[in-house]
Amino acid sequence: MSFIRLEKINKIYPPYFRALVNINLEIEKGDFLLITGPTGAGKTTLLKLIYREEKPSHGEIFIKNKPYSKIKEKEFRKLRQRWGIIFQDGKLFEDLSVYENIKLSLVLAEKKMRDMKHRIYEFLERFNLLLKINKKIKELSGGEQQKVGVIRAILKDPEFLIADEPTGNLDPMSIYEIINILKELHQKGTTIVLATHDPTILNLKIGKLITLEKGELIEGCYFL
Ligand SMILES: Nc1ncnc2c1ncn2[C@@H]1O[C@H](COP(=O)(O)OP(=O)(O)OP(=O)(O)O)[C@@H](O)[C@H]1O
Ligand SMILES: [Mg+2]
Repeated sequence: MSFIRLEKINKIYPPYFRALVNINLEIEKGDFLLITGPTGAGKTTLLKLIYREEKPSHGEIFIKNKPYSKIKEKEFRKLRQRWGIIFQDGKLFEDLSVYENIKLSLVLAEKKMRDMKHRIYEFLERFNLLLKINKKIKELSGGEQQKVGVIRAILKDPEFLIADEPTGNLDPMSIYEIINILKELHQKGTTIVLATHDPTILNLKIGKLITLEKGELIEGCYFL
C-alpha cells in the first residue's frame, strides 16, 4: 500500500500561474525520494501540498488511501506530529533560544523531555552548536539557523521526514554530517522526501530521483 499518493495534482497560484501540472506520484513507506529541478520549478510547492500548508487546485492527495480532503484539520495535525519538516525558510522562533526552539517542537510531538535532553546535547555537539545552545535564533548565522532546523526535525525521530533544501547554506562538513544522519534515519525505516539542488546529495545515488521542470514531473535528473 502506498504511503502518500498524488493523483493528477495541479496547483494554480492566482491569477493563473500553474506551479504544478498534472503530477502523479506515489511514495511508499520507507522510500527515500529526492526531488530536484531548477529554481521556481515547483519543489517547495509540491512539499507544501504534501504537508498540507497549501491545497491543490485540482486533483487529490491520499495518505494510506485516505483522501486529504476527507481529513479534518485536527486529525491532520495529529498525523503531522509524527512528521519532521525542514523548511526552506527555517520557520524557527527568532526570539527563542536554540534549546527552546528544539524543546518546543519535541513537546508538541509529545516527547518526554527527560529522555530527550542528552540527545539534544549530542546533536548540538555533532553540529558544532553546543556553545550556541542559549543564543537566540536571530543571533545565529544563516547556516547555524539551518542546522537548528535540521536538528529540530530529526530529533523527533519522525516516521516521515520532509526536507526542503536542508543543506542550502552549509559547509561541506555539515553537509556530510546531514547526509549521514539522513542515511541513519532511512535505515531505521523513516520515509524521506527531500528537495535539493545539492550535487553532493544528488551524486550519492541514494533513493529514487525525480525532477520538476516548470511544474512538470520527469523521471531522473535534469543535469546529471
Ligand atoms: N504563494 C505563492 N503565490 C504565487 N506564486 C507562488 C507562490 N509560491 C510560489 N509561487 C510560484 O510558484 C513557482 C514555484 O515556486 P517554488 O517555491 O515551488 O519553487 P522551487 O522549485 O522550490 O524553487 P527553489 O529551487 O528556488 O526553492 C515560482 O515561480 C513561484 O514564483
Ligand atoms: Mg524551494
